[in-house]
Order: sequence, then structure tokens, then C-alpha cells
Amino acid sequence: MFKLPDIPQGATKEQAYKEIIPQITALISSETDRTAALGNVAAMLHGCMGFFWTGFYLVKNGELVLNAFQGPVACSRIKYGRGVCGTAWAQRQAIVVEDVDKFPGHIACSSLSRSEIVVPLLRNGEAVGVLDIDSDRLSAFDDTDKEMLLGLCRTITEICFQNYE
Ligand code: SME
Repeated sequence: MFKLPDIPQGATKEQAYKEIIPQITALISSETDRTAALGNVAAMLHGCMGFFWTGFYLVKNGELVLNAFQGPVACSRIKYGRGVCGTAWAQRQAIVVEDVDKFPGHIACSSLSRSEIVVPLLRNGEAVGVLDIDSDRLSAFDDTDKEMLLGLCRTITEICFQNYE
């Protein structure tokens, strides 16, 4: 039976990421099915970090389509340049939103979501998808999340998107 890593109480966010990212990498490195791997990434991040919503949107026929996730029901398709996800896709950059109500065009999947981080999955300089994480607290994400999740997303792309069309 798989057991989620125990993050000691009082651990910093950086310590928590440094504990779980190697375990996520180990968990997905031998998995050849992309959805199986992304599902476990979402479950590990969500289960260990206390996020409100954690999941992936992948580029498919010119839009982002909902893929593996943990949390409440979410919108299933997002257009290029729309919302935080579509903007991160278009800009090929991670976006930290301290207050979703202040992000023009933010797509609200739940009224409980207060802040958000979206990190693109980049392959050969193009985004093949995004990792989207929401919190029910304002200003939950900062440069530590951005740095740690950019590193994780590079690893995910290497493992899961070698042959992405
Ligand atoms: N808030 C996102 C939409 C996806 S949900 O948060 C899961 C956005 O503005 O792109």
C-alpha cells in the first residue's frame, strides 16, 4: 500500500517540496501511461500540500483540456490566452495570482478559490499543458512555489511528454 510522505509539522514549504518532489519523481519515472503518472502527481501534491484544487490541463486541438486532477469539479476546456491557465500557456511562463478576483479574465471554477499558481509544461519551448493549483487562502503562492513547481514540471515533461503530439 502506498503511504503519502509525512511532512513534519512546522516544516517550511521549501522543506515540504524538497521531501515530496523526489518521491513524485520516483513514483512516475517507471510509468509509461501519461494519465496514470499525472494522476499520481496530482494526488501526491494535493494530499501533501493542502491545496484546494490541483490538476493538469493539456493542449489538445488548440485548446486546454482538463486532465488528471484532485479537488472539486472544474471547467473542462480553456481557450488560448483565456484565464490564468490560457495566459500561462500563451506566455509560456509561470503565473502567480495572489488574489484571483484581481486577475482580469480569471475563470472561476469555484467561488472558494482565492489564489492560484499556473506553471506551463514546456517541451522544446512550447507549452504542451499546464499544472494549475488553487488555494482557498489569499496569497498562498510565492517564488518558492514557482521555483519548486517549475523544476517539477521540467521533470514531468521529460518523463511524460517525450512523444506528445
Ligand atoms: N482559474 C483557472 C481555471 C481553472 S480552475 O481554477 C481549476 C483559470 O483562470 O484559468
